[in-house]
Amino acid sequence: MRALLRLRGTGILIALLLVGAAGCSKLKDDLPAADKTASQIHDPGWNDPTSANFHGVVLHADNYQYNQCVSCHAKSFGGGTSGVGCFTCHQSFPHKAGWSDTSSTNFHGKFLRLGLGQLTDCASCHGAAFDGGTSGKSCFTCHASYPHNAGWIDPASAVSHGKFLKAKSWDTGECARCHGANFSGGTSGKSCFTCHPAYPHTVFASSSGHAGYLYTQGYPLAQCKTCHGASYAGGTVVNVSCSSAGCHADNTGTPKSPEACNTCHGQFLASASDALSAAPPKSVLGDSATTVRGVGAHAKHLLSGTLGKSVKCVECHTVPTTLFATGHVDTQLPAEVVFNDTLARLVTGGGTFVPNPTYNATSLTCANTYCHGKWQLKKSGPYAAFFTTDSVMVGAANAPSWTSGASGAACGSCHGLPPTGHPPSSLSDCQNCHGTVVNGSGQIINHALHINGKVNVFGQELAF
Ligand code: HEC
Ligand code: HEC
Ligand code: HEC
Ligand code: HEC
Ligand code: HEC
Ligand code: HEC
Ligand code: HEC
Ligand code: HEC
Ligand code: HEC
Ligand code: HEC
Ligand code: HEC
Repeated sequence: MRALLRLRGTGILIALLLVGAAGCSKLKDDLPAADKTASQIHDPGWNDPTSANFHGVVLHADNYQYNQCVSCHAKSFGGGTSGVGCFTCHQSFPHKAGWSDTSSTNFHGKFLRLGLGQLTDCASCHGAAFDGGTSGKSCFTCHASYPHNAGWIDPASAVSHGKFLKAKSWDTGECARCHGANFSGGTSGKSCFTCHPAYPHTVFASSSGHAGYLYTQGYPLAQCKTCHGASYAGGTVVNVSCSSAGCHADNTGTPKSPEACNTCHGQFLASASDALSAAPPKSVLGDSATTVRGVGAHAKHLLSGTLGKSVKCVECHTVPTTLFATGHVDTQLPAEVVFNDTLARLVTGGGTFVPNPTYNATSLTCANTYCHGKWQLKKSGPYAAFFTTDSVMVGAANAPSWTSGASGAACGSCHGLPPTGHPPSSLSDCQNCHGTVVNGSGQIINHALHINGKVNVFGQELAF
């Protein structure tokens, strides 16, 4: 009641004591007309923030018993009989019922969001740093990070939002309350992703993780580097390394860059320097089955298999020297298959028979490769007499399916057993003349000499 006691005049004081809390409008009625001015009703200094009589100081000391004011200034504090509304000077105070209730139309967050008041207004009582001020009520008791401070979006500032979160072990739960459960704005209307599209990492779908995200976004690794460091070993603030925690490391535990050739396809746990391990399986999308196009017959071609010499990657497609080399990840799947090396394109028939290898990305078949039998051997050279009536010997020019498995390269599919134009022979006899290549059971015994672009006969190696 101290505030009321400060209304002027002994008469008033007596009246006040008589009516108690009955209301000051009654008191006002008792005043002589000449006294009905603010200066007379309220103590001098009532409206001077530097005065000890300042209404703010008085009410603060009174633990905000501002219900004492409603009789003259109205229950709504809009003015009442006094004609002076509290809100003319401080837009939001006294705070309305529901001010702290998120579901209320009077909720303070909504008030500010709708632009009915400015943060600077709140600062006059809650302090320039919003940590209490004269009101003694800090904003941060309820939302530790809001209002955001001046250095909030400056990564160099000691009080940047990143450093704030780091100190909270990256708990973004509080941010989500205003920036939305998915961080795309929420009630604040400010999405985290406008500045860093990949963080918070809730954008990484639970099914495909960051690998799937990176693939669909065209590998924006530069973004990752802004936080995880230029070499992915952890940034100055985000000390989360891609490799040190054992995520990007080979099976010996040696860390490797996420840009290693066997990260996105091939064998993730192989050494970064193992070039062959970059080939599927696994495919970019994580498949291992040879019936899937991204995997297909890679292993058969690359590992010294049962048939022929191992084939270089460049025989079938361009091999990027760096991750962002033109034609690599700048295009979506499927991978471009182009036969730019020498074996599939080997010219035979004494320089006249040019194969024109092609890959059909719909049927997944490759056609016209030397390897699968697009070759001719002319009746000339030291063994011309051996030829039958035909003037040439020809391969079967097979067009195998990349995903058909063993049947795509069955013995006899690339050339007859023996080839057309070759004198008849049984499989068990091939070894008599091609003994460096096959055995008596018709099995290839030296993979380096089969499908190597050379005629291997009678222990010699000749050109086509
Ligand atoms: C003529 C302008 C004016 C009017 C009208 C006014 N005030 Fe104030 N009041 C101020 C100023 C100025 C401050 C100091 C803080 C600020 O600058 O916002 C203040 C501060 C306060 C504080 C101090 C809060 C704290 O931080 O501890 C209270 C309480 C308060 N006013 C209550 C009221 C009430 C209740 C009414 C209406 C009955 C009212 N005021 C009407 C100008 C006014
Ligand atoms: C008995 C009636 C009465 C009561 C109770 C009362 N006031 Fe007033 N108050 C007035 C009147 C009347 C005026 C306006 C006088 C004028 O027009 O100059 C006024 C003006 C004010 C002003 C503006 C002063 C200025 O110089 O512009 C403030 C601030 C204020 N009151 C705050 C309060 C606060 C805070 C309380 C409660 C602690 C309160 N009043 C209680 C009647 C009252
Ligand atoms: C004129 C002074 C003043 C202004 C201006 C002011 N407040 Fe307050 N605020 C107080 C006082 C005093 C309290 C504590 C007593 C009360 O709730 O009336 C308080 C309490 C609060 C509370 C409740 C805190 C709790 O612990 O329950 C919130 C929330 C709040 N203010 C937010 C705001 C916001 C947001 C603004 C700006 C739009 C604002 N205030 C402007 C003085 C002010
Ligand atoms: C106005 C732009 C902007 C918005 C919006 C934004 N940030 Fe940031 N944030 C940055 C900048 C700039 C960096 C420094 C790293 C960088 O350059 O990407 C950063 C870095 C971070 C960091 C890493 C720590 C650091 O300082 O490197 C975290 C964690 C982070 N922000 C979380 C969030 C969250 C959570 C949100 C949404 C609630 C968000 N950010 C919204 C600009 C923004
Ligand atoms: C109580 C609500 C609230 C909370 C909690 C909150 N924010 Fe905000 N944030 C806002 C509002 C509202 C804005 C818009 C402008 C302003 O008032 O600063 C904003 C703006 C931002 C901005 C600047 C955006 C821009 O485009 O300039 C960043 C960055 C940001 N918040 C990050 C965060 C982070 C990180 C957290 C969690 C640590 C967080 N916020 C928690 C409400 C909140
Ligand atoms: C008594 C607890 C409490 C206090 C004190 C408090 N707030 Fe809030 N405020 C909330 C709650 C609860 C929300 C709803 C969002 C949330 O859960 O964080 C909120 C939300 C907000 C929002 C809405 C932002 C948005 O994105 O919609 C703003 C703005 C805001 N507060 C400003 C302030 C300011 C300024 C202060 C200090 C003057 C303050 N608050 C003090 C509890 C509080
Ligand atoms: C704005 C900063 C920021 C950016 C940009 C960023 N990260 Fe992160 N990242 C973090 C922080 C902080 C953590 C640790 C806390 C966490 O998981 O939220 C983290 C953790 C991770 C983790 C381990 C935790 C998990 O979610 O599985 C992975 C993986 C990751 N980031 C990948 C990426 C990739 C890939 C990119 C680029 C597309 C990227 N990050 C960009 C800040 C960032
Ligand atoms: C960040 C993930 C990623 C890394 C790291 C990566 N690749 Fe790839 N690679 C892909 C994707 C995605 C494709 C399929 C793109 C397409 O269809 O063109 C691909 C396709 C290929 C192909 C098939 C031909 C082509 O370009 O389509 C070869 C060969 C290849 N990569 C080799 C490499 C080599 C060598 C390295 C190391 C210098 C490497 N990759 C590093 C993602 C990656
Ligand atoms: C015999 C030809 C051939 C050889 C040799 C070959 N590839 Fe491929 N590669 C293909 C074909 C065919 C595809 C699938 C194209 C499609 O999807 O239609 C492919 C696809 C790929 C892809 C994309 C996988 C995906 O998910 O779709 C990568 C990566 C790749 N190859 C890497 C390599 C690397 C690395 C080597 C060498 C170590 C290599 N390849 C050797 C024919 C070959
Ligand atoms: C009596 C010896 C003899 C037998 C048995 C024989 N070949 Fe030949 N083969 C030759 C000679 C000679 C040539 C022609 C070489 C030349 O003109 O350069 C030839 C050519 C070929 C060629 C084409 C050129 C090359 O070397 O790739 C193929 C393929 C071939 N033979 C496969 C077979 C197969 C399969 C068998 C068993 C079914 C077989 N040959 C049995 C002697 C034989
Ligand atoms: C993928 C296609 C392909 C398949 C399958 C294939 N060959 Fe061949 N073979 C060739 C090509 C191409 C030549 C031509 C010479 C060369 O490049 O080695 C050849 C040559 C030969 C020769 C002649 C010796 C030589 O290497 O010059 C013999 C013998 C032979 N093949 C036997 C077989 C037998 C036996 C099988 C089944 C076990 C078989 N081939 C399966 C492609 C194939």
